[in-house]
Amino acid sequence: MAEKGQYIYEWPRPMVTTDAIVFCTGKTTGSVLMIKRGRQPNKGMWAFPGGFLELGEELVDSAKRELQEETGLSGVELEQMQTFGGIGRDPRGRLLTVSFIGFVDEELEVKGGDDAEEARWFDINDLPENIAFDHDMIMRIALEKLKQRQNDFAMIDSLNWAYRTSRVLQIANRIGVFDALSGKALSSVQVADQCKSVPDLTEKLLIACTAMGLVTRKNGKYENSELSCKYLVKGKYLYQGNMVTHSTWVRGICDQLEKDISLQPLEDLETQQHYNFIMAMDNIAKASRGKFFLESIDLSDRKRLLDVGGGPGSYSIAACKKYKHLNAVVFDLKETTEIAKEVIASENLSDRITTTVGNWDVDEFGTGYDVVIMSNILHGIFDEASMKLRKAYNALEPGGILAVQEFLLDDKKDGPVVAALFNMMVGAFSQSELLDVITQAGFVDAKIVSVNESIGSDWATARRPK
Ligand SMILES: C[S@@+](CC[C@H](N)C(=O)[O-])C[C@H]1O[C@@H](n2cnc3c(N)ncnc32)[C@H](O)[C@@H]1O
Repeated sequence: MAEKGQYIYEWPRPMVTTDAIVFCTGKTTGSVLMIKRGRQPNKGMWAFPGGFLELGEELVDSAKRELQEETGLSGVELEQMQTFGGIGRDPRGRLLTVSFIGFVDEELEVKGGDDAEEARWFDINDLPENIAFDHDMIMRIALEKLKQRQNDFAMIDSLNWAYRTSRVLQIANRIGVFDALSGKALSSVQVADQCKSVPDLTEKLLIACTAMGLVTRKNGKYENSELSCKYLVKGKYLYQGNMVTHSTWVRGICDQLEKDISLQPLEDLETQQHYNFIMAMDNIAKASRGKFFLESIDLSDRKRLLDVGGGPGSYSIAACKKYKHLNAVVFDLKETTEIAKEVIASENLSDRITTTVGNWDVDEFGTGYDVVIMSNILHGIFDEASMKLRKAYNALEPGGILAVQEFLLDDKKDGPVVAALFNMMVGAFSQSELLDVITQAGFVDAKIVSVNESIGSDWATARRPK
């Protein structure tokens, strides 16, 4: 960069450019579009597409024009991000640049044009080292914006899950877990004995407390963590147990608020409960899990997919949108397939995704599939999982693959939090327990292929031998 006030060409007044920062958010990590500069200054270095604002042009139109001229990309919604005007940021003169940011779902084809020798997408974890002007600083700010955008679902998700962690703390406090563990290490059965609680539920509560950092687990015995020793054991100077009990009690006020706040009668939560549950699965698939599924499982050589207990069909839809040669069948109970049909039709995929009404307790799943998906239907009960997996095995052709999504505990059963909370409410396998049950059903090469702890999604795959 030029010294303050030192320029190669001296314009009498500052000039304005615009830059277009376009991220592709179709992958979990994301990628960004950059061009290789074909002219001096900074020839051969990578920059955001951009250039000089013309006299009769709005700022955003300038950014769109430059993007189109230098990369061939058009039709991207751009939003003003920030103005950069550091003295010496461009050796040609005093140049202010107004940056715009936009997002696309897939890495559309791009081609360098005009001032750009080349245009290409860079994974945000593998950016070029030779970045022109102050575009590395602009990149840092743009990456923060990308992170906020990628995390905005995580924010909603964690707010939605938050009451479960407070309930774990409140219930453990209420039944006296932290006092029982004061100064000693106990097994879950011994904790249940001291707290006069149900042993298997107590174990699930202790696993959740472990994931949340309230207790630790070593050699099958639980101990209070430093945090719990300090705040949750009766008699300690900083004891908070009364406050936690008070919060448990005032919870009723929040429930009352829900009853009082509306000026019209609220719909009973039981109404449309099943519809809401199935659409909830679609909500989370659309916001995060569908994308994670596509990144985890490669279906490029598969033709016939069976989605057992497929609910709204979200994973079949995601797969069929990506793989144009794929057809899918959603196997589910009648009332669910009615919903799935609507969702599939709304995506214009009824010609490639059909539904089969069936009950896994009594029906077989059919035959001739080269991939079976089982998303969130195994949930930690060995015999039931085993029965469903055996039917999946029979439905697959030799060499066919199985893809399973579950909330999985790690093998030490001390986390992650989302899986531990799910385990408390419904049930969850550890990673190795899931692989064992899959292997015992006859599958080979069972492995965990991806883990996303924050949304509580693990994908495992296995294969029916040839
Ligand atoms: C947790 S949802 C999972 C839905 C979908 N796989 C997903 O991950 O979005 C469980 C699904 O299993 C279906 N289901 C429950 N009992 C079933 C049974 N006995 N036979 C077939 N499907 C069943 C439900 O209708 C629901 O669609």
